[in-house]
Amino acid sequence: TRQWRGVIEEYRHLLEIPQDTPAVTLREGGTPLVHSGWLSGLTGADVHLKVEGDNPTGSFKDRGMTAAISVAKHEGARAVVCASTGNTSASMAAYAAKAQMTPLVLVPEGKIAAGKMAQAIVHGAQVIMVRGNFDDCLGIAKGLAEQYPVALVNSVNPVRLQGQKSAAFEIVDFLGDAPDFHLLPVGNAGNISAYWMGYRQYAELGHATKRPVMRGFQAEGASPLVTGTPFPEPETKATAIRIGNPASWSLAVEATEESGGRFAAVSDDQILAAQRLLATHDGVFVEPASAAGVAGLLAELEAGESYAGSTVVITVTGHGLKDTATALEAYSADQAEQGRPSIVDTVIDNDVVAA
Ligand code: F0G
Repeated sequence: TRQWRGVIEEYRHLLEIPQDTPAVTLREGGTPLVHSGWLSGLTGADVHLKVEGDNPTGSFKDRGMTAAISVAKHEGARAVVCASTGNTSASMAAYAAKAQMTPLVLVPEGKIAAGKMAQAIVHGAQVIMVRGNFDDCLGIAKGLAEQYPVALVNSVNPVRLQGQKSAAFEIVDFLGDAPDFHLLPVGNAGNISAYWMGYRQYAELGHATKRPVMRGFQAEGASPLVTGTPFPEPETKATAIRIGNPASWSLAVEATEESGGRFAAVSDDQILAAQRLLATHDGVFVEPASAAGVAGLLAELEAGESYAGSTVVITVTGHGLKDTATALEAYSADQAEQGRPSIVDTVIDNDVVAA
């Protein structure tokens, strides 16, 4: 049996990158499509989770990063920069280390989860904290890339989306056709745009007979694609998608419009509830932002929407261990509300049970 080779070697001829680019890879992609008995039961549909937390740095960002870093290295770049709510910086730092390039990351001060910060630092990134939000960080990163010899690897770099579209290929390869619906969280809107590119390409090549309806879910406090106007001060506990002016706005709108889909907002409470339900029903622990697609499905069911008889894929974008603080906080608040002590506050002496 052979080992999965990573996104570039598995799909090289389908990616619009210089075909002689050597792959800088941590063998990302090839992530499991896990059947959700719970959500299938609730919907009467066949619901699968694309578990992107199983990537090398714990999020889907690795798919785009193998492509962006490989191309940047091939073109002779020695330093790379990105703005990030955390996962992009963690991924960039790891791939930059693998390629022996210098990583520089800009993050919103106080708004990135500890696990992601640890990853960026341990992989050797220079981390700059910005008094501002992700959108401000991206502005600075673009400016730096224009004025200094450093390659920008945010998803405004089209090579990133080339790597990320591989997730759609994998889903079709596994299911034998495209699903009827694809649901996912949306922040800077690169991922929904990349999936749509991938599904379109596979349909054009005849690998799929159809393309899914794309439904993107944003956090209520950061939902510009739902309201149609940028949010100058985005706010949500799902820090990964705390973004007010998505860079891939028009590509994302194209994805929902061409597919007959839409954007919708979910509250932080709905997101955190979905995170826990997914963990307890399906054994899949994802970070808060990653549960937005599941929260969206649950909200739609409650509103009377039907998915019965269809095939549904929900991307869960990043691992739960990225942000344990938010998960434990939500859990403790829940326990308190029900008048129960939080297990994290309950300690017993070691002589309670006699030997
Ligand atoms: N889920 C997670 C876990 C993310 O980290 C992100 C984006 C998204 C969803 C949204 O994806 O931006 O393509 O619409 N995180 C970026 C970052 C912004 O810097 O890590 P998108």
